[in-house]
Amino acid sequence: MKAIVLTKYGSPNDLQLKEIEKPTPKDDEVSIEVKASSVNDWDWCLVRGTPFYIRLLCGFFKPKVRIPGVDIAGEVVAVGKNVTQFQPDDKVYGDLSESGFGGFAEYVCAPVSALALMPENMSYIDAAAIPHAAMLALQGLRDLGNIQPGQKLLINGAGGGVGTLGVQIAKAIGVENITGVDSSNKLDMMRSLGFDRTIDYKQEDFTKSEQGYDLILDPKTNRSIFKYLRVLKPHGSYVTVGGETARLLQALFLSPIIRFFFKKNVTILALKPNKDLDYINELFEAGQIKPAIDGPYNLSSAAEAIQHFGEGNHQGKVIITMENGL
Ligand SMILES: NC(=O)c1ccc[n+]([C@@H]2O[C@H](COP(=O)([O-])OP(=O)(O)OC[C@H]3O[C@@H](n4cnc5c(N)ncnc54)[C@H](OP(=O)(O)O)[C@@H]3O)[C@@H](O)[C@H]2O)c1
Repeated sequence: MKAIVLTKYGSPNDLQLKEIEKPTPKDDEVSIEVKASSVNDWDWCLVRGTPFYIRLLCGFFKPKVRIPGVDIAGEVVAVGKNVTQFQPDDKVYGDLSESGFGGFAEYVCAPVSALALMPENMSYIDAAAIPHAAMLALQGLRDLGNIQPGQKLLINGAGGGVGTLGVQIAKAIGVENITGVDSSNKLDMMRSLGFDRTIDYKQEDFTKSEQGYDLILDPKTNRSIFKYLRVLKPHGSYVTVGGETARLLQALFLSPIIRFFFKKNVTILALKPNKDLDYINELFEAGQIKPAIDGPYNLSSAAEAIQHFGEGNHQGKVIITMENGL
C-alpha cells in the first residue's frame, strides 16, 4: 500500500510517499481501507518534532510514529477474531491519536474503541474532518465550559477545525451570541458558519474590549491568563484547548488561585478521543453541523497540505484523500 512515511524530525518536505506492507489487524482491531484523512496540529508538530513535549511523547531523537494522520474515514475490509461491533463494508470514522496514528496511508488497523459508524448522509471527506476537532470543540464547550443556551461565547483562533465545528455545536446547543477571532481572510467563512460577530486579531485585541463573555474557548492560547480574565463575566469560564506551552503552564498552576480570588474558572482540556461521536452523528444527521473543508489534497501532496496547515493559511479542516478513490 501507499503511505506517507516519517523517518526523522524536520519539515513536511522530509516526508516520503512509500510503498509499504499492508497492516493486518490484531484480534481486537479492524482493518480499514482509508478513503480520507485530515491534517491536525499533531501532524504539524510531529513532523517537526516541536514543541519539545512531542519528543517526550513520540520519540526523543527519532519519531516512533511511522505514519502521521489521526483522523480517518474509510471502509472496513477485515476484522480481528474478537471484533463483533463492525464487519467488512461498514463505513467508519475515528480519531487515532491514542491508537498509533497512521491515517496518511491507504490502509490502517485501529481498535474498535477508536471507531464509529458513519451516518448514511456523511461523505468520507466530511467524516475525515470531524473526529479530532469536533471532540475538542464539544468537550471544551459542553463538558468543561458547561455552555448554556442564551450565554455569550467567544472562540479565539476560530477559523480552524475546532472553531468552525465549535460554532455549529454551540448553535445546536442553543447559544445565540457567538464571537469568533481569527485573521481577516477567514472572517467571511466564519460568518457563513454561524458566528454572529467576528474580530480580526491583527486589527483588534478582544481582551481590551468592554465586552464580557460567559465562556471563552481557545485553541490558540497565547496571552497571559489575566488578560482573558478581564473579559470574562463574573463566574465565567476560560477553557484552553491548546496553545503556547508557557501560557498553558501558567493557566494550569494559577487556576485554583484564580477560582478562589476571582471566582472565574480556568481549565485545560485533556481530549478524550471519540467519546461522543454518537452525539456528533445525531447533529450531522439533523443537518446541524457541516464541516468547512479546505482541499482535498491527494495523498502524494500530504507534505503540501501539512505545510498549508502549519502556515495558518487553511480555512476549517485540511483534507487528504487517498489515490484509491472516494
Ligand atoms: N487539549 C488536548 O487534549 C488537545 C489534543 C490535541 C490537540 N490540541 C490542540 O487543539 C488545538 C487545535 O485547534 P484547531 O485544530 O482548531 O487549530 P487550527 O486549525 O490550527 O486553527 C487555529 C486558528 O487560529 C488562528 N490563529 C493563529 N494565531 C492567532 C491569534 N494570535 N489569535 C487568534 N487566532 C489565531 C489560525 O489562523 P492564522 O494562522 O491565519 O492566524 C487558525 O485559523 C491546537 O492548539 C492543538 O495543539 C489539544
